[in-house]
Amino acid sequence: MLKITDAKLKFASALIVGCLGVSSFSYAETLKLSHNGDTKSPVHKALKYFADEVKEKTDGDLKVRVYPNGQLGTQRESLELLQSGALDMAKSNASELESFDPAYGAFNIPYIFRDRDHYYRAMESNEVGQKILRNSEKFGFVGVAYFDAGARNFYTTKPVRSPSDLQGMKIRVQPSPSAIKMMELMGAAPTPLPFGELYTALQQGVVDGAENNIGAVTTYRHGEVAKYFSQDGHTMIPDVLVIGTNTWNKLSDDNQKVIMEAGKDATAFMKKLWAEYTVEELKKADKMGVEILDVDKDAFIKAVEPMFNEAKENPAISEYVKGIKALDSK
Ligand code: GCU
Repeated sequence: MLKITDAKLKFASALIVGCLGVSSFSYAETLKLSHNGDTKSPVHKALKYFADEVKEKTDGDLKVRVYPNGQLGTQRESLELLQSGALDMAKSNASELESFDPAYGAFNIPYIFRDRDHYYRAMESNEVGQKILRNSEKFGFVGVAYFDAGARNFYTTKPVRSPSDLQGMKIRVQPSPSAIKMMELMGAAPTPLPFGELYTALQQGVVDGAENNIGAVTTYRHGEVAKYFSQDGHTMIPDVLVIGTNTWNKLSDDNQKVIMEAGKDATAFMKKLWAEYTVEELKKADKMGVEILDVDKDAFIKAVEPMFNEAKENPAISEYVKGIKALDSK
């Protein structure tokens, strides 16, 4: 006959309680976050900072796993995966996002920002940057945070000091209607390509140059093949962290709050990091033998003036364009 001893009973009940205990905990979830940056880039560090804070604030209930270097696809592919619910989060930028939500186009108007302070005021404003983040749910994603990505400048295989030097040059742009328009007005032939294909395209002469912040020249080594960096500062286009609407709607209210708070903190972390990075990378570019050129900035500004006038009349962005202008302090 089977004899159930006290000890056996205790063990069995402990097991049942243990199992019940475990099943009453909520299941720890890991969100996949894709981006196309290098692990040495400031934005990768800011995303890790974000992931650490989410884990800490939820006691490990919610985790974020960061996949760098476009392992999960280009920026465009990541956004498409997000829309279909196959990916949870992605870091893109306002240029790329313009094709998914036209409101992001407001950031892509050349020379719309007077300086870095103005750019930050626009990102932080509830009527501009924050409203744009909040309003994209219908397009399959929700904006979480902006990251400073500095000013964009030309870097080329021939010196460029004014728009007339760009005539006939093939310049790589992001797949964004504003970037294409800007390049046409400046006289170059815009060539849309994913960022990950650019080094080879420069090396093989498929394009004669590109435009980006100084990090593209150093961290991504484009300065090995493009030896001129023209400081025209045509745009200041923020990187943007987004979460898929599908994933967002599955999160508890508390976890949604943590995501947004961690996003704000990561933006602040990045602000400091970016300022230090820019100074260091300009020195590195010089060491790589990249010539830093001063340019006829007024000529660049004049070439793209029609874009600002058109943007003020464009119903998808006019509200934001006017809002950005109103934040301009002389
Ligand atoms: C910046 C930006 C990236 C973007 C890249 C590009 O580096 O941070 O998100 O992919 O520009 O020009 O494609």
